[in-house]
Amino acid sequence: ATILVLHGPNLNLLGEREPEIYGSTTLSDINQTLQQQARDKGHHLLYVQSNAEYELVERVQDARHEGVNFILINPAAFTHTSVALRDALAAVEIPFIEVHLSNVHAREEFRKHSYFSDLAQGVICGLGPQGYELGLQAAIKYIEQS
Ligand code: DQA
Repeated sequence: ATILVLHGPNLNLLGEREPEIYGSTTLSDINQTLQQQARDKGHHLLYVQSNAEYELVERVQDARHEGVNFILINPAAFTHTSVALRDALAAVEIPFIEVHLSNVHAREEFRKHSYFSDLAQGVICGLGPQGYELGLQAAIKYIEQS
């Protein structure tokens, strides 16, 4: 199956960005680990990072035609702002898991609300890069069972 991993704004800076919150692992480290994990299970991974809302919306729209079976998404700051990205995920009806590196519930008040969580199959936060691996594991299990 094909799994799309979407990384939102500023996640290109992982490793150097607020390391006390987001850790020292880079985005390319995360993608490589996920790529290996998917390959080991015989699945195909696509990944995209963008700082632009429209680009993420278009990637979600395109996912339908690319035969994407599942989406793993860290919408980053768009988590708390983007009705457009939420609507795109609702429109394509591709199941998705929402991942956050940090525990958004232990931070500023505005991070407690997500435009995605009620549509997601599940939400993982606070476990750092491991959250992506757990999300991918759950996505693969979901795909294999459906
Ligand atoms: C984040 C949490 C968001 O609140 C923040 O805007 C991010 C990253 C996380 O992975 O912890 O950019 O999604």
